[in-house]
Amino acid sequence: MARKKKSAEEIKELDEFEELPVENELEETIVESVVESVKKKKKKEVSTLEDLPGVGPATAEKLREAGFDTLEAIAVASPLELKEIAGISEGAALKIIQAAREAANIGTFIRADEYLQRRQIIGKITTGSKALDKLLGGGVETQAITEVFGEFGSGKTQIAHTLCVTVQLGRDEGGLEAGAIYIDTENTFRPERIRQIAENRGLDPEEVLKNIYVARAYNSNHQMLLVEKAEELIKNNNIKLVVVDSLTSHFRAEYIGRGALAERQQKLGKHLSDLHRLANLHDVAIFVTNQVQARPDAFFGDPTRPIGGHILAHSATVRLYLRKGKGGKRIARLVDSPHLPEGEAAFKITEKGIED
Ligand SMILES: Nc1ncnc2c1ncn2[C@@H]1O[C@H](COP(=O)(O)OP(=O)(O)OP(=O)(O)O)[C@@H](O)[C@H]1O
Ligand SMILES: [Mg+2]
Repeated sequence: MARKKKSAEEIKELDEFEELPVENELEETIVESVVESVKKKKKKEVSTLEDLPGVGPATAEKLREAGFDTLEAIAVASPLELKEIAGISEGAALKIIQAAREAANIGTFIRADEYLQRRQIIGKITTGSKALDKLLGGGVETQAITEVFGEFGSGKTQIAHTLCVTVQLGRDEGGLEAGAIYIDTENTFRPERIRQIAENRGLDPEEVLKNIYVARAYNSNHQMLLVEKAEELIKNNNIKLVVVDSLTSHFRAEYIGRGALAERQQKLGKHLSDLHRLANLHDVAIFVTNQVQARPDAFFGDPTRPIGGHILAHSATVRLYLRKGKGGKRIARLVDSPHLPEGEAAFKITEKGIED
C-alpha cells in the first residue's frame, strides 16, 4: 500500500512481508468468524424476486406491478398483503417474506457479544485535521455511513479526496493500509488533486493513484449498479473506503416535483441499504456527500437542509454539516450521531487536502 518514499531495498523487503498473516490474532479470529457467518448466509444467493421460494415469473410480475419490485420492499411487506396481490396462501407469503428478509439482511438479530466483537474491529480513517478527527471520535469509521452535507464549495469533495489518500496510510498514521473506491456523479474527481495531496504528505503519488478505483455514474440507476460492482472490487482487493460524491444529485435531477417524491425516497432508501450492507459485510467506510437545498419557507433556524429528508437522516450513521467560516476556514458540525456528542470543529483546505 502507499508508503513514504523508500529506497528500492526497503520496498523489496516490505513487499516480501506483505503475504505474512495479520499480526493481531484476535482481529484475525474475529474477521474469520464474520467471513464464515457471511458465507453461511450466502449459501443460496437470493438476488432477484424469482430467487425467492415459490416465486415464478408470473408471481414476480404480479408483485412488481403492485410496486413490490425489490427484496427490501418484500422484506417489510405483510403476509396478508402478499397473499392478496399474488393470490398465494398466507403460509407461502410468510416463506417469501422470510427469505427476502434474510437476503436483504434486515429484521434479523445478532447477539450483543458478537455485535461488540464486530465493533472492536472498526477502523478509523484520519481526515487530515485533528480537530475534525476528534469531533468524529477518531476519524471516519468503517462499518458506517458518514454523510457530509453543506453548500457548494464548503469542502465536501475536498474531504473525500483527502480520505482517498489517508486511508492508504499505515495504521499508526491514521490510515488502514488500504485502497479506495470513488463513485463520481458530478465529474469532480481530480487525479491531479490526489497527486498533490499525496506529494504534500510525503507519499509516492503514483502508488497512491494505483489504489483508487474511480467510476463516473451517469444516472441514479447506474449509480446503484456501481455499488454492486464495488462489492466485487472489494472482495478481490484490499479496500476500506467507498466514496459516493454526490449521493443525491442524480436523484434530485431525475425525480422532480411532489409526485415523484415517494419514488425518489424509495430508490434512495434502497441505495442506502445497499451501502449499509456493503459497510457491514466488508468492514468498509462509506463516505457520501449531499448538497444542501435552500428552504425559503424556513424563517427560523438554519435555512438549509439536506436533500433526502427523513430516509437519509435515519440511514446515515454520522452526519456532518459543513459551512464556510472566516478567512477561508471551514466549520464542521456533528449532527445526530448515535454515539458521539454534538459539537463543532474548524479546519482548512490546503495543498495537503484537509488540515487544522
Ligand atoms: N488545491 C487546493 N488548495 C487549496 N484549496 C483548495 C484546493 N482545491 C480546492 N480548494 C478549495 O476547496 C473549495 C471547493 O471545495 P469542494 O469542491 O470540496 O466543495 P463541495 O462542498 O464539494 O461543493 P459542491 O457542492 O459544489 O460539490 C474551493 O472553493 C477552494 O476554496
Ligand atoms: Mg463537490
